[in-house]
Amino acid sequence: MITLHLFLCALAVLWIYFLWSRRRIYKLMLELPGPIGYPIIGSTYEHVIQKKRQIRFRTKYFNKYGNTILTWIGPVPIVITRDPNFLKDVFATCHNKSVHMVKAITNCMGNGILSTQDPLWHEHRKNINPAFKLDLLVTFLPIFEAEANRVVSLLETYVDKGEKSVIRDMLRWSVRIAAQTTLGPDVKEEELFKNDTLVEKLNALISLTTLNLINPLAQKKIIVNLFGHEKQKTAHVAEVFKMVDNVSECKKNLNYIIKYLTCIVQVVEKRLNSKEESSGVESNILVNIAIDLYRKGVIKYNDIRSECGMMIAAGFDTSGLTAYHTLYTLAAHPQFQAKVFDELTEVFPNSADFQITYTDVQKLVYLDRAVKETLRLIPAIPITAREAATDLRLPNGVVIPKGVLIGTDIFHTHRNPEFWGPEADIFNPDNFLPENLQKRHSHAFVGFARGKRNCIGLKYAMLSIKFVLAKILRNYMVKTSFPFKDLVFVDNMTMKLVEYPRLEFLRRT
Ligand code: HEM
Repeated sequence: MITLHLFLCALAVLWIYFLWSRRRIYKLMLELPGPIGYPIIGSTYEHVIQKKRQIRFRTKYFNKYGNTILTWIGPVPIVITRDPNFLKDVFATCHNKSVHMVKAITNCMGNGILSTQDPLWHEHRKNINPAFKLDLLVTFLPIFEAEANRVVSLLETYVDKGEKSVIRDMLRWSVRIAAQTTLGPDVKEEELFKNDTLVEKLNALISLTTLNLINPLAQKKIIVNLFGHEKQKTAHVAEVFKMVDNVSECKKNLNYIIKYLTCIVQVVEKRLNSKEESSGVESNILVNIAIDLYRKGVIKYNDIRSECGMMIAAGFDTSGLTAYHTLYTLAAHPQFQAKVFDELTEVFPNSADFQITYTDVQKLVYLDRAVKETLRLIPAIPITAREAATDLRLPNGVVIPKGVLIGTDIFHTHRNPEFWGPEADIFNPDNFLPENLQKRHSHAFVGFARGKRNCIGLKYAMLSIKFVLAKILRNYMVKTSFPFKDLVFVDNMTMKLVEYPRLEFLRRT
């Protein structure tokens, strides 16, 4: 009996300690408004299951509670913001992702720049930075040229054939450049590259990571077992089961992932065994930087693979989607496409297989604005999460305690009417005219994040995207019957749409 009493007392003490350790979070709950979460599953149920991860689900909460809200991912509190003032502090001071995010990425992709935390991340970033210097980027132009020409030839087969689905084609374009610029020319010999199935393998990897990220419940074996045998009990349970089914679906995809990683390993092996030392700018392509670090004992062998794999994963979906989204936004807004075309005909008077130089791309200022405006309304990464590195004070005085997870809602920041005006949801590349940018908050546009942990591939992405779009839009007029207002956005590591509009291509002269 005494043992039982002692046990209950110990439990009570532990419970009180647990509540005490979370006292600042409970205080925050009282100070910061937001939707109330269900016990254990938080708001996951409403967002993931009822609303099928639709991003617009958050809009009503921002409109109701203000620019910064508190909500729950399972039992974990998360402060989500669309306030550029607060984002400025977050991006300047918080360089670490949440532990949960790091676990999801490491589980699926291993160790690399996306998953490391400060101070290790800082070392990583310093080592990798040379792979993104301008002198190396310009050496990629022949790859950008060849792959852009390849897309144009493919689109030629769609001319005058009505609306076609081109999302896969654009993703194939970006994965091909990402693989070649990360791993070097050897990758072209690999089977997955030759048969153009890298996209499928990489998508399996991204799906698995996303699932790990958004469904903390689905990660737990105990939940899988608990719900595994009672499929239809309630609607909730059935839906949880669906998540679990998805997990097993992803497990099947592991086969795909292994193939993709094997492809990288083969390239790495060839390079390691090669007698020739890489020199000059070539020594700065990522695989060579990683091999060099491995030889010096800074990283492990498996880290070469994950570092390269992560870079391709981080670059291909974001760039491929943005190129596709821009084609769509311009198809849906022909008046702006006409302006892009005017600019292109000035720089490239002849259509067909004209060559593009770095200087040419610098002249395409209207196209630059159109891509950025597309990224504003359809950001390739709709939301990211950082961990508060110190106590952070919101503009209204509320203090976010150190360690709390902060969701930087890029999608809603970019459509925040307080900072973008009443026409925040309307496509208008002139939003990025220098004089308009000057009037706007420095962090009202954060498509590539900001601060030290911003997108390392920003210049690479903008250069390659403008390159391929210049080739396509100089050669074809793009049309669509899908209205812009009907797009439905879905939360994912990278932006997903419920329906990908189809595009029609008409030849230009
Ligand atoms: C339109 C294209 C792109 C967009 C919109 C984009 C956006 C972003 C954003 C928002 C982040 C911050 C993520 C976070 O805080 O969790 C990020 C990070 C990153 N991006 Fe990009 N990205 C693009 C293209 C690329 C490309 C082409 C590459 C590589 C070739 C790349 C490599 C990375 C890497 C490695 C990171 C992590 C940086 C770090 O943790 O230090 N991105 N990107």
